[in-house]
Amino acid sequence: MICSTRILIGLILSYPVASYGQQDLHRAGDFKEGYDQSYQTNSLSLDYRALNKKKFNLIEGSSDQLGLPSLPIPEGNPLTLNKVDLGKKLFFDRRLSLNNTFSCAMCHIPEQGFSSNELRTSVGIEGRTVRRNAPTIYNVAHMKNLFHDAREDSLEWQVWSPLLAKNEMGNPSFASVVNKIKSIKSYDSLFEDAFGGQGVSVVTIGKALASYQRVLVSADSDFDRWHYANHKGSMNKEEKLGFKLFIGKAKCVNCHSIGNQYALFTDNKLHNTGIGYLSSMSPGRGDISVQVSPGIYIQASRRVINTVSEKVESDLGLYEITENPDHRWQYRTPSLRNIALTSPYMHNGSISSLTEVVQFYNRGGISNPLISPLIQPLNLNTTEVELLVNFLNSLTGNNVNNLVEDAFNAPVGEVIH
Ligand code: HEC
Ligand code: HEC
Repeated sequence: MICSTRILIGLILSYPVASYGQQDLHRAGDFKEGYDQSYQTNSLSLDYRALNKKKFNLIEGSSDQLGLPSLPIPEGNPLTLNKVDLGKKLFFDRRLSLNNTFSCAMCHIPEQGFSSNELRTSVGIEGRTVRRNAPTIYNVAHMKNLFHDAREDSLEWQVWSPLLAKNEMGNPSFASVVNKIKSIKSYDSLFEDAFGGQGVSVVTIGKALASYQRVLVSADSDFDRWHYANHKGSMNKEEKLGFKLFIGKAKCVNCHSIGNQYALFTDNKLHNTGIGYLSSMSPGRGDISVQVSPGIYIQASRRVINTVSEKVESDLGLYEITENPDHRWQYRTPSLRNIALTSPYMHNGSISSLTEVVQFYNRGGISNPLISPLIQPLNLNTTEVELLVNFLNSLTGNNVNNLVEDAFNAPVGEVIH
Protein backbone atom coordinates (compact mmCIF):
# COMPACT_ATOMS: atom_id res chain seq x y z
CA MET A 1 0.00 0.00 0.00
CA ILE A 2 2.73 2.43 1.05
CA CYS A 3 4.67 1.41 -2.02
CA SER A 4 1.81 2.06 -4.46
CA THR A 5 1.09 5.47 -2.90
CA ARG A 6 4.71 6.38 -3.52
CA ILE A 7 4.42 5.35 -7.13
CA LEU A 8 1.30 7.43 -7.55
CA ILE A 9 2.96 10.50 -6.00
CA GLY A 10 5.96 9.86 -8.20
CA LEU A 11 3.78 9.97 -11.30
CA ILE A 12 2.08 13.19 -10.28
CA LEU A 13 5.37 14.87 -9.46
CA SER A 14 7.01 13.79 -12.64
CA TYR A 15 4.54 15.69 -14.81
CA PRO A 16 5.73 19.25 -14.11
CA VAL A 17 9.33 18.05 -14.06
CA ALA A 18 8.90 16.84 -17.57
CA SER A 19 7.26 20.04 -18.79
CA TYR A 20 9.73 22.46 -17.20
CA GLY A 21 12.95 20.58 -17.86
CA GLN A 22 15.74 20.58 -15.28
CA GLN A 23 13.74 21.00 -12.12
CA ASP A 24 14.26 19.44 -8.75
CA LEU A 25 11.06 19.68 -6.77
CA HIS A 26 12.77 18.93 -3.49
CA ARG A 27 14.80 22.09 -3.35
CA ALA A 28 13.85 25.32 -1.63
CA GLY A 29 10.93 27.43 -2.76
CA ASP A 30 8.95 27.78 -5.93
CA PHE A 31 11.27 27.84 -8.92
CA LYS A 32 8.85 29.85 -11.04
CA GLU A 33 10.43 28.48 -14.19
CA GLY A 34 8.12 28.30 -17.17
CA TYR A 35 5.81 31.00 -15.78
CA ASP A 36 7.34 33.56 -18.09
CA GLN A 37 5.86 31.78 -21.12
CA SER A 38 2.23 32.57 -20.33
CA TYR A 39 2.28 34.83 -17.32
CA GLN A 40 3.96 38.13 -16.63
CA THR A 41 5.75 38.18 -13.30
CA ASN A 42 8.51 40.19 -11.70
CA SER A 43 9.64 37.17 -9.68
CA LEU A 44 12.85 35.50 -10.69
CA SER A 45 13.59 31.81 -10.40
CA LEU A 46 15.93 30.50 -7.73
CA ASP A 47 18.28 29.25 -10.43
CA TYR A 48 18.63 32.78 -11.76
CA ARG A 49 19.40 34.01 -8.28
CA ALA A 50 22.06 31.36 -7.77
CA LEU A 51 24.29 32.69 -10.56
CA ASN A 52 26.85 34.08 -8.14
CA LYS A 53 25.50 37.57 -7.94
CA LYS A 54 27.89 40.36 -7.08
CA LYS A 55 28.29 41.33 -3.45
CA PHE A 56 28.36 45.06 -2.70
CA ASN A 57 29.64 46.89 0.36
CA LEU A 58 26.22 48.08 1.47
CA ILE A 59 27.53 50.46 4.11
CA GLU A 60 29.40 52.47 1.51
CA GLY A 61 27.04 55.04 0.09
CA SER A 62 24.21 54.29 2.50
CA SER A 63 24.85 57.52 4.36
CA ASP A 64 25.37 59.99 1.55
CA GLN A 65 22.55 59.36 -0.91
CA LEU A 66 21.61 62.53 -2.77
CA GLY A 67 18.19 63.61 -1.53
CA LEU A 68 18.32 61.94 1.88
CA PRO A 69 19.81 63.09 5.19
CA SER A 70 22.67 61.10 6.74
CA LEU A 71 21.68 57.71 8.02
CA PRO A 72 20.24 57.67 11.57
CA ILE A 73 22.13 55.01 13.52
CA PRO A 74 21.11 54.23 17.11
CA GLU A 75 23.82 54.44 19.77
CA GLY A 76 23.62 50.82 20.82
CA ASN A 77 23.99 49.36 17.33
CA PRO A 78 26.88 50.85 15.33
CA LEU A 79 26.95 49.67 11.70
CA THR A 80 29.49 47.00 10.79
CA LEU A 81 29.78 44.84 7.69
CA ASN A 82 29.69 41.69 9.82
CA LYS A 83 26.30 42.68 11.24
CA VAL A 84 24.95 43.61 7.81
CA ASP A 85 26.08 40.25 6.36
CA LEU A 86 24.59 38.32 9.25
CA GLY A 87 21.33 40.31 8.99
CA LYS A 88 21.19 39.55 5.29
CA LYS A 89 21.57 35.82 5.86
CA LEU A 90 18.82 35.92 8.50
CA PHE A 91 16.53 37.96 6.22
CA PHE A 92 16.65 35.22 3.56
CA ASP A 93 16.60 32.23 5.90
CA ARG A 94 13.35 30.28 5.80
CA ARG A 95 14.29 28.49 9.01
CA LEU A 96 13.32 31.65 10.89
CA SER A 97 9.68 30.54 10.57
CA LEU A 98 7.93 27.88 12.62
CA ASN A 99 7.92 25.26 9.87
CA ASN A 100 11.13 26.33 8.07
CA THR A 101 9.28 27.53 4.99
CA PHE A 102 9.08 31.29 5.25
CA SER A 103 11.67 34.06 5.23
CA CYS A 104 11.32 37.83 5.55
CA ALA A 105 12.31 38.07 1.88
CA MET A 106 9.27 36.09 0.75
CA CYS A 107 7.07 39.09 1.55
CA HIS A 108 9.73 41.77 1.08
CA ILE A 109 10.87 40.43 -2.29
CA PRO A 110 14.04 42.16 -3.56
CA GLU A 111 13.12 42.15 -7.26
CA GLN A 112 9.68 43.52 -6.40
CA GLY A 113 10.92 46.67 -4.66
CA PHE A 114 11.40 44.70 -1.42
CA SER A 115 7.59 44.53 -1.30
CA SER A 116 5.11 42.08 -2.93
CA ASN A 117 3.82 43.18 -6.34
CA GLU A 118 1.62 40.14 -6.78
CA LEU A 119 -0.38 40.32 -3.56
CA ARG A 120 -2.65 43.07 -2.30
CA THR A 121 -2.29 41.77 1.22
CA SER A 122 0.40 39.39 2.41
CA VAL A 123 0.10 35.65 2.80
CA GLY A 124 2.11 34.02 5.61
CA ILE A 125 3.06 30.44 6.52
CA GLU A 126 0.67 27.75 5.33
CA GLY A 127 -1.20 30.33 3.26
CA ARG A 128 -2.47 32.27 6.27
CA THR A 129 -4.18 35.58 5.58
CA VAL A 130 -2.49 38.84 6.61
CA ARG A 131 -4.75 41.89 6.51
CA ARG A 132 -2.18 44.40 5.26
CA ASN A 133 0.06 45.06 2.27
CA ALA A 134 3.80 44.46 2.66
CA PRO A 135 5.51 47.85 2.50
CA THR A 136 8.92 48.32 0.93
CA ILE A 137 12.02 48.03 3.10
CA TYR A 138 13.91 50.62 1.00
CA ASN A 139 14.79 53.66 3.14
CA VAL A 140 13.08 52.20 6.19
CA ALA A 141 15.95 53.62 8.28
CA HIS A 142 14.56 57.06 7.56
CA MET A 143 11.02 56.34 8.77
CA LYS A 144 10.35 57.73 12.25
CA ASN A 145 7.63 55.16 12.87
CA LEU A 146 7.25 51.69 11.49
CA PHE A 147 4.20 49.78 10.20
CA HIS A 148 1.10 51.28 8.58
CA ASP A 149 -0.23 52.26 12.00
CA ALA A 150 3.15 53.57 13.25
CA ARG A 151 3.05 51.28 16.28
CA GLU A 152 6.81 50.65 16.42
CA ASP A 153 9.72 53.06 16.35
CA SER A 154 12.78 50.85 16.32
CA LEU A 155 14.08 48.59 13.58
CA GLU A 156 15.87 46.56 16.26
CA TRP A 157 12.54 45.57 17.87
CA GLN A 158 10.31 45.62 14.78
CA VAL A 159 11.55 42.22 13.58
CA TRP A 160 9.75 40.40 16.36
CA SER A 161 6.35 41.41 15.00
CA PRO A 162 6.57 39.19 11.86
CA LEU A 163 8.66 36.52 13.62
CA LEU A 164 5.97 35.97 16.26
CA ALA A 165 2.79 36.70 14.27
CA LYS A 166 0.76 33.46 13.90
CA ASN A 167 -0.11 34.36 10.31
CA GLU A 168 3.35 35.51 9.21
CA MET A 169 6.29 33.43 10.41
CA GLY A 170 4.32 31.67 13.15
CA ASN A 171 6.94 31.22 15.89
CA PRO A 172 5.38 30.63 19.31
CA SER A 173 7.91 32.56 21.43
CA PHE A 174 11.11 34.61 21.52
CA ALA A 175 12.99 31.66 23.01
CA SER A 176 11.91 29.29 20.24
CA VAL A 177 13.49 31.57 17.61
CA VAL A 178 16.68 32.04 19.65
CA ASN A 179 16.99 28.29 20.23
CA LYS A 180 16.34 27.46 16.58
CA ILE A 181 19.13 29.79 15.44
CA LYS A 182 21.44 28.49 18.17
CA SER A 183 20.90 24.97 16.85
CA ILE A 184 22.15 25.92 13.37
CA LYS A 185 25.92 25.57 13.51
CA SER A 186 26.69 27.82 10.55
CA TYR A 187 25.46 30.81 12.55
CA ASP A 188 27.95 30.34 15.42
CA SER A 189 30.91 32.06 13.80
CA LEU A 190 28.74 34.73 12.15
CA PHE A 191 27.29 35.82 15.51
CA GLU A 192 30.78 35.66 17.01
CA ASP A 193 32.21 37.93 14.27
CA ALA A 194 29.31 40.37 14.53
CA PHE A 195 28.79 40.49 18.29
CA GLY A 196 31.98 39.05 19.85
CA GLY A 197 30.96 36.90 22.82
CA GLN A 198 27.34 38.09 23.11
CA GLY A 199 25.96 35.03 21.32
CA VAL A 200 22.52 34.52 19.80
CA SER A 201 19.84 36.44 21.69
CA VAL A 202 16.67 38.47 21.22
CA VAL A 203 18.88 41.55 21.17
CA THR A 204 21.55 40.37 18.72
CA ILE A 205 19.03 38.91 16.25
CA GLY A 206 17.20 42.27 16.24
CA LYS A 207 20.42 44.22 15.82
CA ALA A 208 21.63 42.11 12.89
CA LEU A 209 18.34 42.22 10.98
CA ALA A 210 18.07 45.96 11.67
CA SER A 211 21.59 46.56 10.33
CA TYR A 212 20.83 44.88 6.99
CA GLN A 213 17.53 46.72 6.61
CA ARG A 214 19.11 50.03 7.64
CA VAL A 215 21.53 50.02 4.69
CA LEU A 216 18.89 49.34 2.02
CA VAL A 217 18.96 53.04 1.25
CA SER A 218 17.98 54.21 -2.20
CA ALA A 219 17.64 57.84 -3.28
CA ASP A 220 19.75 59.71 -5.88
CA SER A 221 16.85 59.45 -8.33
CA ASP A 222 16.40 61.53 -11.50
CA PHE A 223 14.33 63.90 -9.37
CA ASP A 224 17.11 64.27 -6.76
CA ARG A 225 19.72 64.93 -9.41
CA TRP A 226 17.59 67.67 -10.92
CA HIS A 227 16.28 69.19 -7.69
CA TYR A 228 19.25 68.87 -5.35
CA ALA A 229 22.23 68.75 -7.74
CA ASN A 230 20.98 70.99 -10.53
CA HIS A 231 21.45 68.41 -13.31
CA LYS A 232 19.12 70.08 -15.78
CA GLY A 233 18.80 67.12 -18.12
CA SER A 234 17.89 64.44 -15.61
CA MET A 235 14.15 65.26 -15.61
CA ASN A 236 12.10 65.72 -18.76
CA LYS A 237 9.43 68.38 -19.29
CA GLU A 238 6.51 66.17 -18.21
CA GLU A 239 8.25 65.13 -14.98
CA LYS A 240 9.02 68.75 -14.12
CA LEU A 241 5.40 69.79 -14.75
CA GLY A 242 4.30 66.87 -12.58
CA PHE A 243 6.54 68.13 -9.78
CA LYS A 244 5.01 71.60 -10.10
CA LEU A 245 1.57 70.06 -9.61
CA PHE A 246 2.84 67.92 -6.69
CA ILE A 247 3.92 71.00 -4.73
CA GLY A 248 1.18 73.26 -6.13
CA LYS A 249 -2.34 72.56 -7.34
CA ALA A 250 -2.42 68.91 -6.20
CA LYS A 251 -1.09 69.72 -2.70
CA CYS A 252 0.55 66.31 -2.29
CA VAL A 253 3.50 67.95 -0.56
CA ASN A 254 1.28 68.84 2.42
CA CYS A 255 1.80 65.28 3.62
CA HIS A 256 4.52 63.83 1.34
CA SER A 257 7.11 66.38 2.48
CA ILE A 258 10.01 67.82 0.50
CA GLY A 259 12.71 69.83 2.33
CA ASN A 260 15.43 72.23 1.22
CA GLN A 261 18.27 69.74 1.64
CA TYR A 262 16.47 66.45 1.28
CA ALA A 263 13.06 64.86 0.74
CA LEU A 264 11.60 62.04 2.81
CA PHE A 265 8.24 62.35 0.99
CA THR A 266 6.52 61.75 4.32
CA ASP A 267 5.57 64.04 7.19
CA ASN A 268 5.87 60.98 9.47
CA LYS A 269 2.28 61.60 10.57
CA LEU A 270 -0.94 59.63 10.20
CA HIS A 271 -4.00 60.72 8.23
CA ASN A 272 -7.42 59.49 7.23
CA THR A 273 -7.73 59.53 3.43
CA GLY A 274 -10.79 57.26 3.41
CA ILE A 275 -9.09 54.05 2.21
CA GLY A 276 -9.56 52.35 5.59
CA TYR A 277 -13.09 53.67 5.97
CA LEU A 278 -14.09 52.23 2.61
CA SER A 279 -12.83 48.73 3.32
CA SER A 280 -14.26 48.49 6.82
CA MET A 281 -17.66 50.09 6.06
CA SER A 282 -18.38 48.55 2.64
CA PRO A 283 -16.48 45.32 2.21
CA GLY A 284 -17.78 44.77 -1.34
CA ARG A 285 -20.34 42.54 -3.05
CA GLY A 286 -20.78 40.56 -6.24
CA ASP A 287 -18.27 38.46 -8.16
CA ILE A 288 -14.55 38.86 -8.03
CA SER A 289 -11.83 37.55 -10.26
CA VAL A 290 -9.66 35.04 -8.41
CA GLN A 291 -6.28 33.85 -9.63
CA VAL A 292 -6.06 30.12 -9.01
CA SER A 293 -2.64 29.55 -10.60
CA PRO A 294 -0.28 31.81 -12.51
CA GLY A 295 -2.32 33.52 -15.22
CA ILE A 296 -5.49 31.43 -14.65
CA TYR A 297 -8.48 33.35 -13.31
CA ILE A 298 -11.98 32.27 -12.34
CA GLN A 299 -15.00 34.41 -11.49
CA ALA A 300 -16.22 33.56 -8.01
CA SER A 301 -18.94 35.07 -5.88
CA ARG A 302 -17.75 36.79 -2.73
CA ARG A 303 -20.37 34.89 -0.73
CA VAL A 304 -18.86 31.53 -1.74
CA ILE A 305 -15.33 32.73 -1.09
CA ASN A 306 -16.33 33.92 2.37
CA THR A 307 -17.56 30.45 3.26
CA VAL A 308 -14.14 28.88 2.58
CA SER A 309 -11.65 31.65 3.30
CA GLU A 310 -10.20 32.77 6.57
CA LYS A 311 -12.03 35.73 8.06
CA VAL A 312 -10.16 38.96 7.36
CA GLU A 313 -9.85 40.97 10.54
CA SER A 314 -11.18 44.52 10.40
CA ASP A 315 -8.61 47.31 10.32
CA LEU A 316 -9.12 50.56 12.18
CA GLY A 317 -5.61 52.01 11.81
CA LEU A 318 -4.23 54.25 14.56
CA TYR A 319 -7.36 53.70 16.68
CA GLU A 320 -6.10 50.19 17.44
CA ILE A 321 -3.01 51.70 19.09
CA THR A 322 -4.52 54.70 20.90
CA GLU A 323 -8.17 53.58 21.28
CA ASN A 324 -9.14 57.18 20.54
CA PRO A 325 -12.22 57.01 18.25
CA ASP A 326 -11.05 60.11 16.37
CA HIS A 327 -8.05 58.09 15.18
CA ARG A 328 -10.12 55.55 13.27
CA TRP A 329 -8.82 54.84 9.73
CA GLN A 330 -5.67 56.93 10.15
CA TYR A 331 -2.56 55.44 8.56
CA ARG A 332 1.03 56.60 8.30
CA THR A 333 2.02 58.66 5.26
CA PRO A 334 4.34 56.37 3.29
CA SER A 335 7.44 57.71 1.55
CA LEU A 336 7.02 57.90 -2.23
CA ARG A 337 10.61 57.04 -3.06
CA ASN A 338 10.82 54.04 -5.45
CA ILE A 339 7.03 54.12 -5.68
CA ALA A 340 7.10 52.84 -9.30
CA LEU A 341 8.48 49.53 -7.96
CA THR A 342 6.07 48.84 -5.12
CA SER A 343 2.51 48.41 -6.41
CA PRO A 344 -0.13 47.64 -5.25
CA TYR A 345 -0.62 50.70 -3.07
CA MET A 346 -2.10 51.73 0.31
CA HIS A 347 -2.13 49.80 3.61
CA ASN A 348 -4.50 47.23 2.13
CA GLY A 349 -3.07 47.14 -1.40
CA SER A 350 -6.46 48.22 -2.71
CA ILE A 351 -5.14 50.46 -5.52
CA SER A 352 -3.17 48.81 -8.33
CA SER A 353 -1.64 51.66 -10.32
CA LEU A 354 -0.27 55.15 -9.80
CA THR A 355 -2.82 56.59 -12.22
CA GLU A 356 -5.62 55.20 -10.05
CA VAL A 357 -3.92 56.60 -6.93
CA VAL A 358 -3.87 60.10 -8.42
CA GLN A 359 -7.48 59.71 -9.61
CA PHE A 360 -8.40 58.73 -6.04
CA TYR A 361 -6.90 61.98 -4.68
CA ASN A 362 -8.42 63.96 -7.53
CA ARG A 363 -11.89 62.83 -6.39
CA GLY A 364 -11.09 64.03 -2.85
CA GLY A 365 -10.40 60.57 -1.38
CA ILE A 366 -13.33 58.65 0.14
CA SER A 367 -15.70 60.90 2.01
CA ASN A 368 -16.18 59.95 5.69
CA PRO A 369 -16.87 61.77 8.97
CA LEU A 370 -13.21 61.73 10.02
CA ILE A 371 -11.46 62.45 6.70
CA SER A 372 -8.40 64.73 6.89
CA PRO A 373 -9.23 68.34 5.99
CA LEU A 374 -6.13 68.21 3.76
CA ILE A 375 -7.89 65.79 1.41
CA GLN A 376 -10.06 67.82 -1.01
CA PRO A 377 -11.16 67.38 -4.64
CA LEU A 378 -8.35 68.69 -6.85
CA ASN A 379 -9.98 69.43 -10.22
CA LEU A 380 -7.05 68.01 -12.16
CA ASN A 381 -7.71 67.24 -15.83
CA THR A 382 -6.58 63.94 -17.43
CA THR A 383 -3.31 65.46 -18.66
CA GLU A 384 -2.50 66.78 -15.19
CA VAL A 385 -3.20 63.35 -13.66
CA GLU A 386 -0.71 61.78 -16.08
CA LEU A 387 1.88 64.51 -15.43
CA LEU A 388 1.76 63.71 -11.72
CA VAL A 389 2.26 60.03 -12.51
CA ASN A 390 5.29 60.97 -14.63
CA PHE A 391 6.76 62.77 -11.66
CA LEU A 392 6.12 59.80 -9.32
CA ASN A 393 7.94 57.57 -11.81
CA SER A 394 11.06 59.76 -11.52
CA LEU A 395 11.57 58.81 -7.88
CA THR A 396 13.32 55.47 -8.42
CA GLY A 397 16.81 55.40 -6.91
CA ASN A 398 19.70 54.76 -9.27
CA ASN A 399 21.22 52.01 -7.08
CA VAL A 400 18.19 49.71 -6.85
CA ASN A 401 19.65 47.18 -9.29
CA ASN A 402 22.79 46.90 -7.16
CA LEU A 403 20.78 46.35 -3.99
CA VAL A 404 18.74 43.63 -5.69
CA GLU A 405 21.82 41.95 -7.12
CA ASP A 406 23.46 42.02 -3.72
CA ALA A 407 20.34 40.47 -2.19
CA PHE A 408 20.61 37.55 -4.63
CA ASN A 409 24.04 36.91 -3.25
CA ALA A 410 22.43 35.82 0.02
CA PRO A 411 22.03 32.09 0.61
CA VAL A 412 18.40 30.94 0.74
CA GLY A 413 17.99 28.88 3.94
CA GLU A 414 18.08 25.13 3.64
CA VAL A 415 15.43 23.05 5.35
CA ILE A 416 16.78 21.02 8.29
CA HIS A 417 16.36 17.29 7.80
C1 HEC B 1 3.89 37.23 5.61
C2 HEC B 1 4.55 38.35 5.02
C3 HEC B 1 5.64 39.03 5.79
C4 HEC B 1 6.78 38.47 6.33
C5 HEC B 1 7.19 37.01 6.33
C6 HEC B 1 7.53 39.56 6.87
N1 HEC B 1 6.89 40.74 6.66
FE1 HEC B 1 7.56 42.58 7.13
N2 HEC B 1 5.74 43.34 6.74
C7 HEC B 1 4.68 42.65 6.21
C8 HEC B 1 3.48 43.46 6.32
C9 HEC B 1 2.09 43.06 5.85
C10 HEC B 1 3.86 44.65 6.94
C11 HEC B 1 2.92 45.80 7.38
C12 HEC B 1 2.34 45.37 8.72
C13 HEC B 1 1.55 46.44 9.45
O1 HEC B 1 1.62 47.60 9.07
O2 HEC B 1 0.86 46.09 10.42
C14 HEC B 1 5.30 44.56 7.18
C15 HEC B 1 6.06 45.58 7.71
C16 HEC B 1 7.44 45.50 7.86
C17 HEC B 1 8.30 46.62 8.18
C18 HEC B 1 7.87 48.05 8.41
C19 HEC B 1 8.10 48.86 7.17
C20 HEC B 1 7.56 50.25 7.29
O3 HEC B 1 7.67 51.02 6.32
O4 HEC B 1 7.01 50.62 8.32
C21 HEC B 1 9.58 46.13 8.25
C22 HEC B 1 10.85 46.92 8.55
C23 HEC B 1 9.51 44.71 7.99
N3 HEC B 1 8.19 44.37 7.73
C24 HEC B 1 10.58 43.84 8.03
C25 HEC B 1 10.43 42.46 8.07
C26 HEC B 1 11.45 41.52 8.54
C27 HEC B 1 12.83 41.89 9.05
C28 HEC B 1 10.90 40.28 8.44
C29 HEC B 1 11.51 38.97 8.85
C30 HEC B 1 11.92 38.83 10.25
C31 HEC B 1 9.57 40.45 7.87
N4 HEC B 1 9.32 41.77 7.69
C32 HEC B 1 8.74 39.40 7.53
C33 HEC B 1 4.74 41.38 5.68
C34 HEC B 1 5.72 40.46 6.03
C1 HEC C 1 -3.56 64.28 4.03
C2 HEC C 1 -2.24 63.82 3.70
C3 HEC C 1 -1.97 63.35 2.30
C4 HEC C 1 -2.05 64.04 1.11
C5 HEC C 1 -2.48 65.49 0.90
C6 HEC C 1 -1.61 63.12 0.08
N1 HEC C 1 -1.30 61.90 0.62
FE1 HEC C 1 -0.65 60.29 -0.40
N2 HEC C 1 -0.82 59.17 1.30
C7 HEC C 1 -1.17 59.66 2.55
C8 HEC C 1 -1.40 58.54 3.44
C9 HEC C 1 -1.80 58.63 4.91
C10 HEC C 1 -1.22 57.39 2.69
C11 HEC C 1 -1.39 55.94 3.16
C12 HEC C 1 -2.87 55.60 3.14
C13 HEC C 1 -3.14 54.14 3.43
O1 HEC C 1 -2.22 53.35 3.54
O2 HEC C 1 -4.30 53.79 3.52
C14 HEC C 1 -0.83 57.82 1.34
C15 HEC C 1 -0.51 56.95 0.30
C16 HEC C 1 -0.08 57.38 -0.94
C17 HEC C 1 0.42 56.51 -1.97
C18 HEC C 1 0.60 55.00 -1.84
C19 HEC C 1 1.95 54.70 -1.23
C20 HEC C 1 2.19 53.27 -0.94
O3 HEC C 1 3.37 52.91 -0.74
O4 HEC C 1 1.25 52.46 -0.88
C21 HEC C 1 0.75 57.29 -3.04
C22 HEC C 1 1.34 56.83 -4.36
C23 HEC C 1 0.41 58.64 -2.69
N3 HEC C 1 -0.09 58.67 -1.41
C24 HEC C 1 0.57 59.73 -3.53
C25 HEC C 1 0.03 60.97 -3.27
C26 HEC C 1 -0.15 62.02 -4.26
C27 HEC C 1 0.31 61.91 -5.70
C28 HEC C 1 -0.76 63.05 -3.62
C29 HEC C 1 -1.26 64.34 -4.24
C30 HEC C 1 -2.22 64.17 -5.32
C31 HEC C 1 -0.98 62.66 -2.25
N4 HEC C 1 -0.50 61.39 -2.08
C32 HEC C 1 -1.55 63.45 -1.27
C33 HEC C 1 -1.31 60.97 2.89
C34 HEC C 1 -1.50 61.99 1.97
